[in-house]
This record gives sequence, structure tokens and C-alpha cells, in this order.
Amino acid sequence: MTSVLITIGRGTGTPIKQQLYDQIRKKIIKGELAFGDKLPSSRELADELHISRNLIVEVYEQLVSEGYLETKAGSGTYVAKGAYLERSFDSDEYSVFGEHLVAEEDVIDFRSGIPALDMFPRKTWGFIARRVYRDAPPEVFGYRHPEGEFILRHTLSQYLSRTRGVKCHPDQLIITSGATQAFGLIARLLGSRNSEVVIEDPVTHEIQTIFSSAGFRFHPVPVDDYGMKTEHISAQNPAFIFVTPSHQFPLGGVLTIQRRIQLIHFARQTGCYIVEDDYDSEFRYHGTPVSCMQGLDPERVVYIGTFSKILSPALRLGYLILPPDLTKKCRDLKWFSDLHSSTFEQLVLAQFMKEGHLEKHISKMKKIYRKRREKLIDCLNKRFSNKVSIHGDSTGLHLVAEFKGITFSDETMRNIDAHRVKVYPVELHTIQKSAHSNKIILGYGNLGLEQIEEGIARLESVLKYSY
Ligand SMILES: Cc1ncc(COP(=O)(O)O)c(C=O)c1O
Repeated sequence: MTSVLITIGRGTGTPIKQQLYDQIRKKIIKGELAFGDKLPSSRELADELHISRNLIVEVYEQLVSEGYLETKAGSGTYVAKGAYLERSFDSDEYSVFGEHLVAEEDVIDFRSGIPALDMFPRKTWGFIARRVYRDAPPEVFGYRHPEGEFILRHTLSQYLSRTRGVKCHPDQLIITSGATQAFGLIARLLGSRNSEVVIEDPVTHEIQTIFSSAGFRFHPVPVDDYGMKTEHISAQNPAFIFVTPSHQFPLGGVLTIQRRIQLIHFARQTGCYIVEDDYDSEFRYHGTPVSCMQGLDPERVVYIGTFSKILSPALRLGYLILPPDLTKKCRDLKWFSDLHSSTFEQLVLAQFMKEGHLEKHISKMKKIYRKRREKLIDCLNKRFSNKVSIHGDSTGLHLVAEFKGITFSDETMRNIDAHRVKVYPVELHTIQKSAHSNKIILGYGNLGLEQIEEGIARLESVLKYSY
């Protein structure tokens, strides 16, 4: 007979029967109890562990019914054949907040697009969530419509009309799982017309991947400090034009009104749509807020927004605003994709907005990001003086630093990494390579002032040998 080495913990919150079951099952799966091993009788194990024999009988019966154990009449209980799994996943050894999810210690990461994660309004959100879960009628716990909750679409359309100049009816809005899902839906929605997309160059690598894996070819258009250089468009009949007009990603330019109008003329003439990604324009530090393009021509512009930057990427809440003729098909695509986004996150967000917390949060965060941005600019100027020039710092959570005489080659990047600081070359996001090899993207949303200072000092300690 095999010793099973079970330990029962009292007062752990886990019932004794469950502990017993888990431990025997785990030992069998991991091979510590092997095929043919005989288990102690229920009486022996009950004596050894000082627990009721009935509990052991119940656990053995359960494990027999699941195929881990077998009984041989008159002989006892044995480990059954085929219940061992090599390299089995042991959930106890993994924490939900496991190491792979925790930031590397002492690495200062200037990754763009991450808001201040420690400033999420947990208390208010939690308070509203408790209320929403308590008061929601039963049907809210069931399957819902693909376009999302009316109360959120209604609140959002009013908010966007007030703050971004969007013109839409709530029925034109579809709540998505972040802007990322919206990009995928758009690719499927507009893909059948033509396989070419007019796109800013650079543009996020992720967006390139989504569109290229949907079969699109790119007609890349270079970008300057005023966004897409529209005079470079020579495509004849594209499926759509993709732009980030309020804060070009990554270079940060704001598309001028002249270029916006040129794009709209082009779209009207060729019958294509403009896809406007308005991902972080709520945080504008100079001048008046820039209105969106959608308000200029709601029939031609598909508008995409997200709550990832103003609240948290973990919510996975974004939205699409469509010209009315595309709405029905896009709702169907959303339904094929995942039925609908999480109802409760939507309801909590709607309430959060209706009670004015979103605008309060944005205004509070804007002050914090403004200080971080100023600190970053100040450190760059102090450390690199006339060797650095800064682009696209008027809005959002990142800026671009251009260095005279430096190329962010693989080797330079390895050296920077070795100094425990992470920065991101613009070249990661270019389609036509090498036009921006002296530029890096520096996200500051999730870094404190001291980290910014230390991060730029580390960067200088590497780059001072490169020019
Ligand atoms: C240009 C751009 N658009 C949109 C997003 C937002 O994506 P999501 O809403 O899926 O988090 C990002 C994320 O970094 C981005 O860089």
C-alpha cells in the first residue's frame, strides 16, 4: 500500500472533503501516485487524518466515478490507468497576479498609451458597480443586443456631441471591446469593396497587423507635424482611409482643417469611407480642444473611440459610430464576433458618466499628465539640450523625441534595455522603413515624476556615447 501523505488544514476556509479530493487528484495527475498504486483503506486513512471515515468513502467514490481510481472487489482501491498527465498545469502554483503580469522590477517603461494605472477611480467605480448589480432587473443578466446598452449609447452620444463635436443618434453607436475590436469589425465591414487602405505612415504596428491579416494592402501616406500629407494620396479606389486626426499616432500632429477637407472631398469622390481613430484627444494641453472629423461629414466618417486611455485598458470598452447605412451590417458582425460586450461594465460606465464622474476624472488626470509631460520635456531638454527636438506633445499620453545624429538601431536598443529603461523607436510603427530612425516614442501616462527623471538620466547615460 502506498503512503498518500495528505495534510488537512483546519480553519483554511476550504472544506476537509475538498482538500482531500484536491490532494489525491493532484497526486494522481502529477504521477506521485502511479497506475496500480494501492490507496490506504478508508478506515486507515480516517484514523491517520483524524477525520470521519464517511468523508473518505465519499471522496474515493467521487474519484472512482471520474476515472482516477478503481476498486477491486475484496482487494481495495487502486490508481486507475491513464490518469497521469505529463507537465500538468497546477493552478495552485500560479497566482492570478503571477510574475508574468507584474512589471519588471526597477525597469522604467516609457510604453505609450498606458494611463496612470494607480489612479483608476476604484472607490467610485466599485460603489456604482455594487449599486448596479444590486438593482439591475433579472433580464440584464441574460443575453443582450450586439450594439450594447441603450443607456450607455445615449449618454455617450450626448457626451461626444458636447466634447468632440460628434453628430450621431445613439442607434449609430456600437459598443465594442476596445478600439481594437472596432478595427477588426471595420476591416470585415469595409473589406469586400476593395483591398487597399490609405493609411498614415507611421501608424501603430497593431493596427497594421489587424488590417493586413484581414487581407488589406497598404497605400502608406507620410506624416508631418500636421498629420497625414494628403497631397501624397494617389490611390484610385481604396476601401477606406485610416487617420488619427486629433493626435496622429505616434508622431502627434493635429490634422489641419485644409487636409481634413481634402480627405472628405477625396472620400466623396471615390465613394470610400474615412475611419477616424480618436483614441486620446481628451487630454489636450494647449489651446482649445480639436473637434473630430466625424462632425464634418457623418455620412462618410466612421468614428472610433475608447475608454482605455481615459479610464483603463482593462475595461475593454470602446465604441464605433457609423453612418446609418453601415449600422445594421456592423451590428451583425459584432454579434458574430462575441454577441455583445459585458453588460455590467457598460451599465456601470453609463452611471459613472451620468453622475459626472468621467468629466471630473478627466479634468483631474489632465492636471497630473500635464505635470508629467512638463517634467519629461524639461528632463529631455536638460539632458540633451540642442540634440533633441520634441514632436506631438500637445495632446495625449506620449510624445516623440527626435535625436540629432542618433540611430535607434537594434544595438542601441539593446544598450538602452540593459540600462533598465524601455523606450520605443518610431520605426517599429513605420511601413516604409528608415524615415524615422532617429526618433523614439516616450509614453509618460503611467510614470511618476521621479521615474521620468531617472528614466531620462538612464537614457542619457547610454546615448551620450552615440553622438
Ligand atoms: C492609435 C491607437 N488607437 C487605439 C488604441 C486603443 O486600443 P484599445 O481601445 O483596444 O485599448 C491604441 C492603444 O494603444 C492606439 O495606440
